[in-house]
Formats: sequence, structure tokens, C-alpha cells
Amino acid sequence: MDPRPIETALRVDVAAATTPDELEAVRVKYLGRKGVLTGFLRAIGQVQPEERPRLGAESNRLKTLCETLLAERAAELGVGDEVAYQRPIDGSLPATNGSVGRRHVISQTFRRIGSILEGMGYRLARGPEVELEYYNFQALNFPDEHPSRDLQDTFYVSNDILLRTHTSPIQVRFMQENKPPLKVYAPGRVYRNEAIDASHQAEFHQVEGLYIDTDVTMADLRGDLLLFLRELFGSDIQVRFKPHFFPFTEPSVDVDMSCFSCHGHGCAICGQSGWIEILGAGMVHPNVLRAVGIDPDRYSGFAFGVGVDRIAMIRYGVPDIRMFLTNDLRFLEQLTER
Ligand code: PHE
Repeated sequence: MDPRPIETALRVDVAAATTPDELEAVRVKYLGRKGVLTGFLRAIGQVQPEERPRLGAESNRLKTLCETLLAERAAELGVGDEVAYQRPIDGSLPATNGSVGRRHVISQTFRRIGSILEGMGYRLARGPEVELEYYNFQALNFPDEHPSRDLQDTFYVSNDILLRTHTSPIQVRFMQENKPPLKVYAPGRVYRNEAIDASHQAEFHQVEGLYIDTDVTMADLRGDLLLFLRELFGSDIQVRFKPHFFPFTEPSVDVDMSCFSCHGHGCAICGQSGWIEILGAGMVHPNVLRAVGIDPDRYSGFAFGVGVDRIAMIRYGVPDIRMFLTNDLRFLEQLTER
């Protein structure tokens, strides 16, 4: 009783099987009731008793080997994977187009703005989109009768709860919970009951900046905005401040930057003016500091609010703000952060 020819024949038979049926026939041939290995095991009874342990061990080894070889070959043939088996791989077929997803252009813009501000020492702050009227208006020094509190502009959830109309309430929350000096940026989605057109949408996106310390001046605001806009749009950008009004800053400014496209000469992007209105800013109003328990005689600070949709429109030449939320892939796939 020599196991070696059996092993050789087994290996040859397994390798020769090319279909599940042929493989099954090999299994029966060796492991079946009248199979080769079964016969080998039975024959052990006929040999000298001192030969039996060695042949018994050989029988076990052959059985395990047979099962292993069958399983490996089955896997090679894709047995159990019927579809794959019936359609053998055709290497001449064209590859499927592995299209790669990407971040939405608004997310890309958020990230770009965030990484610039983090590089300037601003840390991330967040706040809820469903907000108390107190944080959205009252603590920000909006008079009770201020028109933006009106139902026409603000989506109210209940009497004193609303969808935040700007990211400024995050300033208030952060100042309430942290002591100056503080320097934070706060990105988020905001809501206004707008008449919708190419530049207005009821949901849009802002990034708030806030810096509170002793002796913060408007020159610091100007310096940070200049650096921020130069990082975002190019090193030759200039800024100019125009007087404006926000209840929560005094003085308040509208910030223009020189047109990154025509460098101030006048073109279609800047409406021939050479300047692009880019954000709102100002020195935090003493009433706002008082509302959060910061002494306005000791501390001062600035805040600014960036319209993310507007930045993305300018950066990518997108003519209509509504394209950001329509989610037309033909549009979105063209816009990838450079
Ligand atoms: N919250 C203002 C807005 O939404 C923008 C702003 C933020 C202005 C911070 C000044 C300072 O219009």
C-alpha cells in the first residue's frame, strides 16, 4: 500500500477539472463511498497490525489534502459564484469607468477658507442652525422692532426659536463660554426668507470671524482681511472699507477687494468698477460684549462675515447661486478646487 501514486493521481485529477461538475466527479472518485481514499482506509484492516498506525496517518493526511486541493480549485474556478463562472473574465473588454466622487464646491470653499483662517490662528467654533431668537438677534444688539426680525426675512420655528439668519450667533455663544483673548471662525448654513433669484437663495453659507483681546483696533481687522483675501484670491489684492451699518458692530464696514481678474481696471466680473464687494465687518459693539459679560472698557475686538456662496461664485465664475443646490452633476463635476 503505497500512498504516493494516489497523491500524484489526485493532484493531476484536481488540476485537470475545469468545471464544477468535473470537480464534483473528482471528489466522488476519491472521497465517495467507493472512492480511492475510502478504499485505502478499508485496506488498512488487511495489513500487519504494526503497519496500521503509519497507514492510518497517511490516510488522514491524504483526506485532508484532497479536501484542501478541491477547495482551492473550486475557488479558482469561481464555484459558488455562478455568474462569474458562467461569464469567464474577458480581458479584452473595456474597463468600466471608475468615476471618482469629489466634495461639493461649497464644501471645498468652506475648507479653503477654514484652512486659511486656521493658518492665521483662528480656531473652529460651531453653533446650531435652529437657534434661539436671543442669540440670533437680542444679544447681537438688534432693536426689538428691527425689520430683519420680521417674518418676511426670518423663518420662525416658534415664538422665540428660528432658523439662524447669519453665523453671528455663534460669536455670542462662544464669548459666553470662553474668556478673552479669543480668535475663532465659525462656518455654517444660514436661512433667510428671500425672494429667490440668481444671487439670492433661502439657504446659503457664511463663515464668521471673531477676534477679541485688549487693544484690538480696526487696523488689525484690515490687516487680517487683507491677508485672508490675498491667500484666497492672490497676493496683489487690495481692500477698501466703506461705512455701513450692522447692529452688532460699531463702526461697521462693507469690505471691497480689488478685482482679482482685471486688477482694478474694470471688467465684467467687477461690473467695470475694479472693485468687488466681498464681506461685512466691524468692531464688536460694546453692547454685545456686555451681553456676554466681557468688559468693553478692557477688551475690544472685530468680527467679519463672509458669504461663502458669493466667494465660490466669484472664484469659479458661477453665474447663478441656485446652481449650488440644484445638484446637477454636469455642473458640479466641473468645479474642483485648484
Ligand atoms: N452677520 C452679518 C450678515 O449676515 C455679517 C457680519 C458679520 C457683519 C460680522 C459684521 C460682522 O449680514
